[in-house]
Amino acid sequence: MIRQRQLTQLTEIETPFYFYDLDLLRETLAVVTTLSSTHKYSVHYAVKANCNSRILEVIKNANLGVDCVSGNEILKSIEIGFKPSEIVFAGVGKTDKEIVTALNAKIFGFNCESIQELEVIDGLAGQLDKVANVSLRINPNVDAKTHKNITTGLEENKFGINSWELNQVLEKIQNLKHLSLIGLHFHIGSQVTDLSRYKELCTKVNDINRTFIERGLILPHINVGGGLGIDYQDPMNNLIPDFESYFGIFSKSLELQKQQQVHFELGRSIVGQAGLLVSKVLYEKVGRTRRFLILDAGMTELMRPALYQAIHHIENISYKGAESFVYDVVGPICETTDAFARGVTLPKSSRGDFVILYSTGAYGEVLKNRYNLRDEVQAIYSDDLK
Ligand SMILES: Cc1ncc(COP(=O)(O)O)c(C=O)c1O
Repeated sequence: MIRQRQLTQLTEIETPFYFYDLDLLRETLAVVTTLSSTHKYSVHYAVKANCNSRILEVIKNANLGVDCVSGNEILKSIEIGFKPSEIVFAGVGKTDKEIVTALNAKIFGFNCESIQELEVIDGLAGQLDKVANVSLRINPNVDAKTHKNITTGLEENKFGINSWELNQVLEKIQNLKHLSLIGLHFHIGSQVTDLSRYKELCTKVNDINRTFIERGLILPHINVGGGLGIDYQDPMNNLIPDFESYFGIFSKSLELQKQQQVHFELGRSIVGQAGLLVSKVLYEKVGRTRRFLILDAGMTELMRPALYQAIHHIENISYKGAESFVYDVVGPICETTDAFARGVTLPKSSRGDFVILYSTGAYGEVLKNRYNLRDEVQAIYSDDLK
């Protein structure tokens, strides 16, 4: 996190900007790699959470694989130095161009989301005289008990092949000569904090895996996705998520054959706490019933609150007095949804005060945009301030 010494350097930098604590990221990765190697699990970092090159470099150096959801994520990951043989490619709408990119890059495998997609990949692989490794992304119909906009594993969601379609898939796949079926894939959603959800996922994985085994098919790769949540309310006391309990649930609950390798696709839990959005108060506006704090950061820099009512811990690091007020903390964008928090108690805040939005390392900078023709938000790295 921003140390006092670093803060004095940061006051010179134009706000808003992202600040990345790369030491915290390295510490988090050390926990992930130690535990995953104990369990002999493969972890793929979900690039969608944050595709900043400096972040990817640190993650590559920790020897994780990657989980990509577009052709460009695949190309960028390879450019950074991730091994193509450790890239998985998911996504409900892979284009022909992206499929060809993945085939030419010789990635580890596709997580296929529909029967039609299997046919398209087979056709394109045939044209290139290649065989594509595919895992079936099965919709497990497990409620992740997270925000509805980041729930992916229910039958009402667009993701994955429904379990009742499996017979049809297996029949079909026998005739698709340019596909090699290597595994099963699942992902129930993001910001999952109720770990019992993963136990339920394991039960579904075991059921589906068993039906394959009964047909004589031991698929070597079982990918259980990602989604482990982080503490947005009290980040400073929970900087590193409880990976031990998380991996422990899979270790206890999955019933697999010896030759079956477990894969994870973690995004938020790896990078979420390593990022802060640093902004300044532009104006304070006192209405009849509300007191607004207008920041120079808005939904163009951090879209999560507008996109799915996400709440980030907010701190005024400039004011040292005892006075406080209840504020609506909002951005400068011409949209009413451009608000970070309503009715939060903060120290008395004035124009020019530094305000930090915590836990913005995941789905923060990666969703930035230039709506209202705003300047593109920049990033600062702890390594550069030492
Ligand atoms: C298929 C898939 N895998 C992995 C992830 C990463 O999720 P998270 O960042 O919550 O770990 C996502 C994001 O929702 C996803 O859609």
